Amino acid sequence: MNTKLIQFLETTNNLELELDFLANNFNEKIVFSTSFGIEDQVISHEIFSQNLNNIEVFTLDTGRFFAETYAVWDKTLLQYNKKIKAYYPNTEKVEKYVNENGINAFYNTIELRKECCFIRKVAPLGRALKGAKIWITGLRAEQSENRNTLKKIEWDEERQLYKYNPLLNWSTEDVVTYLKKFGVPYNTLHDENFVSIGCAPCTRALKPGEDFRAGRWWWEDKTKKECGLHR
Ligand code: ADX
Ligand code: SF4
Repeated sequence: MNTKLIQFLETTNNLELELDFLANNFNEKIVFSTSFGIEDQVISHEIFSQNLNNIEVFTLDTGRFFAETYAVWDKTLLQYNKKIKAYYPNTEKVEKYVNENGINAFYNTIELRKECCFIRKVAPLGRALKGAKIWITGLRAEQSENRNTLKKIEWDEERQLYKYNPLLNWSTEDVVTYLKKFGVPYNTLHDENFVSIGCAPCTRALKPGEDFRAGRWWWEDKTKKECGLHR
C-alpha cells in the first residue's frame, strides 16, 4: 500500500471518506469482518450504503451465536440487500472436540476454551483472510487495555496484510449516535446490558460498574480474555 493511502486513512477522521477512498484507490482484496456488534454495524452501513462492493464483508459463524445475533444478521441482509459471506468451522474438528470433551467443555480449562475458539473462529478466519491485503475490523481503543495500544492502521507481519481499525478512536457514544442517526439495525441484546457480544455460552450482560469486556469469558482471568482473532 502506498504511503499516501496509509496517511489518508490514519489522519482523515472521516469514516465515509476513508472507506470510499480505500475502496476506490486500492486494487487488492479488501475484507471486513463482522460479528454484528454495534461497531461492525456502523462499518457495514457505510460499506453497504455507499455500494463499496469490492469490500468483502464476512462473518465467522461459530455455530454458538445468540438467536439475537442471527436475527440482526438477517435484518441487515434485508435492509441493505447485500451479501455477507459466512465462514464455518471444519465439521470433523468440531465433532472430534465435542465428542471427546463435551458440548460446553470451554468452561473446564483455559486450554479447552482456547481450542474451541481456535476451531470455531481462528481457523476459519485464516480462510476468510486468504488473499486479502487489507483486513478491516471494528476494534476500538476504549474496549480494553490491549486495544488501547493499537494503531488505526498497522502491518500484520504474521498474516501479511494491513489491519485497518477505522473506529479505533470512536467512543461508545459516537457509535450509538451514528446507529440512531442512520437507523442502522443492531443486536437487541444491547438493550439488555450486553456490551461486547460473542458466542452465547461465553457472553453475559454487564452488571453495574463492570468494564466493557467483563461479560466475555467472565469465569477466566482478565489477562487471558482474548480468543486469538486479534493479538
Ligand atoms: S473478540 O476477539 O473478543 O472476539 P470482539 O468481539 O471484541 O473480538 O470484536 C472485535 C472485532 O473482531 C469485530 O469488530 C470484528 O471485526 C471481529 N470479529 C469478532 N468476532 C467475529 C466473528 N465471529 N466474525 C467476524 N468477525 C469477528
Ligand atoms: Fe467456543 Fe466460547 Fe470461543 Fe465461542 S467464544 S468459540 S463457544 S470458547
